[in-house]
Amino acid sequence: MQLKNKRAVITGAGSGIGAAIARAFAEQGARLVLADRDAVTLANTARHCRELGVEVVESVADVGTVEGAQAGVDTCVEHFGGIDILVNNAGMLTQARCVDLTLDMWNDMLRVDLTSVFIASQRALPHMLAQRWGRIINVASQLGIKGGAELTHYAAAKAGVIGFSKSLALEVAKDNVLVNAIAPGPIETPLVAGISSAWKTAKAAELPLGRFGLAEEVAPVAVLLASEPGGNLFVGQTLGPNSGDVMP
Ligand SMILES: NC(=O)c1ccc[n+]([C@@H]2O[C@H](COP(=O)([O-])OP(=O)(O)OC[C@H]3O[C@@H](n4cnc5c(N)ncnc54)[C@H](O)[C@@H]3O)[C@@H](O)[C@H]2O)c1
Repeated sequence: MQLKNKRAVITGAGSGIGAAIARAFAEQGARLVLADRDAVTLANTARHCRELGVEVVESVADVGTVEGAQAGVDTCVEHFGGIDILVNNAGMLTQARCVDLTLDMWNDMLRVDLTSVFIASQRALPHMLAQRWGRIINVASQLGIKGGAELTHYAAAKAGVIGFSKSLALEVAKDNVLVNAIAPGPIETPLVAGISSAWKTAKAAELPLGRFGLAEEVAPVAVLLASEPGGNLFVGQTLGPNSGDVMP
């Protein structure tokens, strides 16, 4: 019970990595606000977490809007009187060659995958700074480090998340608010379900580990960063559960 009674917000908790983090946090006793734009999948994750015996509040919102990005934190403060841990995980993936990328695709990506991280963090910070305890965990991607063809907008957003996490970490570490990023490699979730199996097989063969990761193998990294004493010395780091694809 490493997170007993901690008040945590997890965005994108309806599916994949966010759902796995929600379950892992529930196993560790955290009180949860689970946020997602998909009410049905969100309710499913929330039910699993409640079965593990913790209090869960659902927040259905689109983090691509200012109000939606603030909603998880606001719900947590309203229901639990504050916030201890914020996991900015919600994200989307579209693909196009840069030459074909529309400004709408670019702006949508930046809004959902990057601006939401800034807005939610800014909303949580006054509470964390006042109580001199907080953990912000931002889910980036290894593509923010190594880049990806047909993914200039995604890689730019995720590189932005890493730069944002380092810079905010420098601002608030002395107030005992620790900010870090997780940069997963390829993980079997609905996000990558649309990619051709031929590409996936070739990609898996390229990985030193020889396989994609599972969401359940990423979630313990978030637990570590959120926990004490395990997470105490991580400041502005980018942890890479990536099957060995990137070795920074
Ligand atoms: N799967 C991978 O290979 C991989 C690799 C590196 C990084 N990531 C990152 O991990 C995070 C989680 O991805 P995943 O693989 O679990 O994907 P997923 O599609 O399984 O889950 C993403 C969740 O975010 C929600 N979401 C998307 N846009 C939203 C919005 N505007 N507002 C609210 N909720 C929204 C979706 O409804 C979904 O429940 C993302 O930030 C993604 O970029 C994934």
